[in-house]
Amino acid sequence: MPDTPPSGRSDEPYRLPRTVTPLVYHLTLDPDLEAAVFSGDEMVELTVHEPTATVVLNAADLVITDASVESADGDLLVAEVTYDEKLERATFSLPSPVPAGPALLRCRFTGILNDKLRGFYRSRFRAEDGTTATIATSQMESTDARRAFPCWDEPDRKAGFDISLVAGPGLSAYSNGPAVEETDLGGGRRLVRFAPTMKMSTYLVALIVGPLAATEPVDVDGVPVRVVHPPGRGHLSAFALEVAAHALRYYSDYFAIPYPGDKLDLVAIPDFAFGAMENLGCVTFRETALLVDEDRAARTELERVCDVVCHEIAHMWFGDLVTMRWWNGIWLNEAFATFMEVLATDAFRPGWHRWVSFGLERESALAVDGLHATRPIEYPVGSPEEADGMFDVLTYQKGGSVLRMLEQYLGPETFRDGVRSYLAAHAYANTDTADLWDALEAVSGQPVRVVMDSWILQGGHPLVTLDDGLVDQQPFAYGPPDPDGVSAIGGPWQVPVLVRALPAAPGRAPGPGARLLLGDRPEPVPALPDEGPALVNAGGWGVYRVGYGGDQLGRLAGRLDDLAELERVNLLTDTWALVLAGHRPLDDAVTLAAHLGDHSEPGSLAVVAGILGLCDRVVGDADRPAVARATRALLGPRLAGLGWDRRPGDDERAPTLRAMLIRTLATVGQDPGVRTEAAARFDAAAAGRPAIAADIEGAVLDAVAAELRPGDDQAFLEHYRHPADPQDEARYLFALAAFPDEARCLAAFDLALGEVRTQNAPYLIRDLLANRVGGPAVWGRLKEEWTVVTGRFPANALPRMLDGVRMLCGRPELADDVIAFLEANPLETGGRTVLQVIERLGINVAFGRREAGRIAPVLDAATGGLR
Ligand code: BES
Ligand code: ZN
Repeated sequence: MPDTPPSGRSDEPYRLPRTVTPLVYHLTLDPDLEAAVFSGDEMVELTVHEPTATVVLNAADLVITDASVESADGDLLVAEVTYDEKLERATFSLPSPVPAGPALLRCRFTGILNDKLRGFYRSRFRAEDGTTATIATSQMESTDARRAFPCWDEPDRKAGFDISLVAGPGLSAYSNGPAVEETDLGGGRRLVRFAPTMKMSTYLVALIVGPLAATEPVDVDGVPVRVVHPPGRGHLSAFALEVAAHALRYYSDYFAIPYPGDKLDLVAIPDFAFGAMENLGCVTFRETALLVDEDRAARTELERVCDVVCHEIAHMWFGDLVTMRWWNGIWLNEAFATFMEVLATDAFRPGWHRWVSFGLERESALAVDGLHATRPIEYPVGSPEEADGMFDVLTYQKGGSVLRMLEQYLGPETFRDGVRSYLAAHAYANTDTADLWDALEAVSGQPVRVVMDSWILQGGHPLVTLDDGLVDQQPFAYGPPDPDGVSAIGGPWQVPVLVRALPAAPGRAPGPGARLLLGDRPEPVPALPDEGPALVNAGGWGVYRVGYGGDQLGRLAGRLDDLAELERVNLLTDTWALVLAGHRPLDDAVTLAAHLGDHSEPGSLAVVAGILGLCDRVVGDADRPAVARATRALLGPRLAGLGWDRRPGDDERAPTLRAMLIRTLATVGQDPGVRTEAAARFDAAAAGRPAIAADIEGAVLDAVAAELRPGDDQAFLEHYRHPADPQDEARYLFALAAFPDEARCLAAFDLALGEVRTQNAPYLIRDLLANRVGGPAVWGRLKEEWTVVTGRFPANALPRMLDGVRMLCGRPELADDVIAFLEANPLETGGRTVLQVIERLGINVAFGRREAGRIAPVLDAATGGLR
């Protein structure tokens, strides 16, 4: 018998009976792109473990005909098929039991190529000749393979897939394996057969038929790699190919296992619910995450492509070769790919300082993890909706951060060796999270399981305090729990703490730090070789906040030059978190910001911009000029020093910093000089003179929008409709959310329900909700259109769309309305994410109540001297 699922049974009633095991699926699918339907037939080689007259498998939105089971002795049992729509199952009832042993299940089926970006679905784009082209493509994770073909749609029912696709005239076909055979079916139709796959999970199957083109394969140490794309976009593939080659080599070496597929296609799909999907050998992407013109892209856009490509390729090993047993393990799958994505990107372009920008991603996770509505990273999962609800910042960013912490704690080589032995031991099979801890424990001799359980099985994270030479921990929360007292924040944690003292005099090389594993009791700080102020979370990889007693923060503020960049970022974010939580006055964070001196690093300054942005939201109109003044005082000199144009010798991160400075100065800073320059560049570009440099184009558009000049919104829209490349299209689309004007925001909302692709519309609405002026009106419209919106957009995007409401904090009465509406109209997927947004909104409102009256004087006092 194959092993049975673990008990605890949150997965009941969602698991299929295990009386039969699928070994190989022989699958043929024939999509009719015009009619948006498909037909298929399959033959599954099975092992029957005990005689049975019913075979139960998953199917949804399919009509199954001609179903039968043939036993090894050739008996053909014709099946009657019944469906359970709720559990998304089909039951094949046989006239008599099929005996134990090998058997063949056969059936034919039909289905609809849907527009919901799940299962086997339809995507359309404008072809080069102006006509509308259609492709059939697939997105199976988490549980939508059952919408494409009847199957045992659970990650541990691994099988081989022998796939054939019918392609009409002028169409090409792609799947997980290389095409090995083509049969002419007449009338220009061909049957394309692909090499059978290795044993893998159903959620990794890829089925693509359409008028697509492929680049010539690039040979990466024997693996042919191509980019597949809508015709005419092949010139946008070079960067992704370069990254893919890097990633394949990097991982083959890191994991010490060759790439598990036969070939690797990276496929750009015009309508795609997520960023990308790790189908073995046939990774699918939304276009912005793959196709890019290196010379016309912003640095952040290139980084995004690099991240996504590295992330998905990491899954070829971690996820595809070794797979979670059940969906509660999805966090490790995604967290690990996130960790590897950063590691591989950092190796690709060290100058991007990817671990520092990951510090800001961790911050976005801790901002949620400090809420009572957080959840443990690993969480019981039963239904498909619960599985889909796992794809959030806690899985990706907190999970990835916790792995980074473990890697740094054990040492990178030890960690890598443990990962190698884990993958080698479980290749082609399924695992539980603890299997990784066991492998790491075996190579390191450290208590990995106990330490990690404290991080993944309870929500929240600690505030580590240093006071009077003692380190201690307490759970960190932004606010008191609800009156009903429910909180997912746990504690205590097993905290790997690294403390170092700064050198006695500025600029001297630091000595080593002291390590300790902090448990539930306070610990004295070990003797340190240096005599300057002590810094907790040295190196910056710990997943915790730090609070300092006495005058320690003031002393550190005077020594920011002696911190590493990530340490500075953390000091700012931790201090700001304590302010937002009401533990510390606003002055602490503002003082640190004012002490940044000459540090022109995007990490720290992004935190400063975020603080100013929230202040701008909660102050009354009379105080907004003070926030603007402080913004100009803090950021203006940086932009002056950096200039608007790329310069030889620019730091690798200068482009990102420049854009951030322009955007914040033009909006929160209301800086007339910056706005004028932005408008001049925009007008020049419109008149056909130099185009706006891609690095600053998004920021320039936001600055232009802030000026509210007549006609600019129409010009943005025109540009959006005729873009040069996918990034260009996205820049102009999302800039439509930047006009501080109710009417324009509502017009953009209508566009989101009209011509904008459903893959982008939810994010446009998110940005519109976050618009300071238009947000409240957009919220009103969203409520009116709720049924349309929830019926039309991919379910997973809806909680992300609602993220915008946390910025509706300038009007407390609106916050109450938001809470009441969302409680009365729950989402099917991502309900917890909605609770988190609601809690964050309340925290922002509380910050405003506490500090709004003090913001202007505090900012003036701290930055007056800088002006
Ligand atoms: N496996 C996911 C795609 C996915 C997400 C499937 C949610 C089902 C539900 C993929 O590996 C992934 O993580 N994609 C990310 C991009 C990545 C770079 C973080 C995405 O789509 O956002
Ligand atoms: Zn992933």
